[in-house]
Amino acid sequence: MTDNAFAIQLFKGLPERYDALAEVLSFGQNGRWRRELAGHLATHRPRSVLDVATGTGGVAIALATETEASITGVDISDAMLERGRERVRKADLAARIKLEPARAEALPYPSESFDAVSFTYLLRYVDDPAATVAELARVIRPGGHMASLDFYLPPNVAWRAAWWGYTRSLLPIAGVLLGGRAWWDVGRFLGPNIERHYGRWPLARIVDAWEAAGMVDVGCRVMSLGGGLVMWGTKS
Ligand SMILES: C[S@@+](CC[C@H](N)C(=O)[O-])C[C@H]1O[C@@H](n2cnc3c(N)ncnc32)[C@H](O)[C@@H]1O
Repeated sequence: MTDNAFAIQLFKGLPERYDALAEVLSFGQNGRWRRELAGHLATHRPRSVLDVATGTGGVAIALATETEASITGVDISDAMLERGRERVRKADLAARIKLEPARAEALPYPSESFDAVSFTYLLRYVDDPAATVAELARVIRPGGHMASLDFYLPPNVAWRAAWWGYTRSLLPIAGVLLGGRAWWDVGRFLGPNIERHYGRWPLARIVDAWEAAGMVDVGCRVMSLGGGLVMWGTKS
């Protein structure tokens, strides 16, 4: 199975309860991390933003609330996008946010066509994170901005042990109780996937990939004792 096929399958059963459970299972931190990401882009007052791996549109909606930009959200999961369109309509933001199917690895947009790009929880699902970051940077105009959010590994030994216990036991159990079988699968998958990703792509290597893609002033903030990582940078 290619990485894309795996992600499409993984997210198929999640949309209905995704937004509620993403908050509950992250102890409310997901919303905080999103606001941090949105703040890094909003400060530059972009007029157009591409939100990649938009899923059910949570980041796109946060960006629409904090900016006056037109927002395009893309994702490979039709099921997540469908739920996202419902949320956008309910939030009365259909005039500002459009959601379209697209792969982060091959975006169907001309180079330098957006003021800003955001992406969340994406790089763990692609075969070549550096090539994907280069593709995301390609569509940003010179001087435009990029910001991202993903889970991270707590650097402190005690917090890492607590994180390990949480991801290996409570997360899948709470997932299945609150969301059913699909959330058991994702709960069991996440911890090992995050560890494997940062084993191959430690933060310094990810920063190198951003810089190789033409991003400068790359900054990172490790949040919630290491549970989350927000990154930002400017296209040279
Ligand atoms: C954990 S969800 C995050 C959704 C949303 N960004 C949020 O923060 O709520 C990850 C999303 O990445 C999408 N995805 C995974 N691989 C992708 C790819 N190669 N291109 C575009 N989207 C992808 C999945 O379909 C899924 O909707």
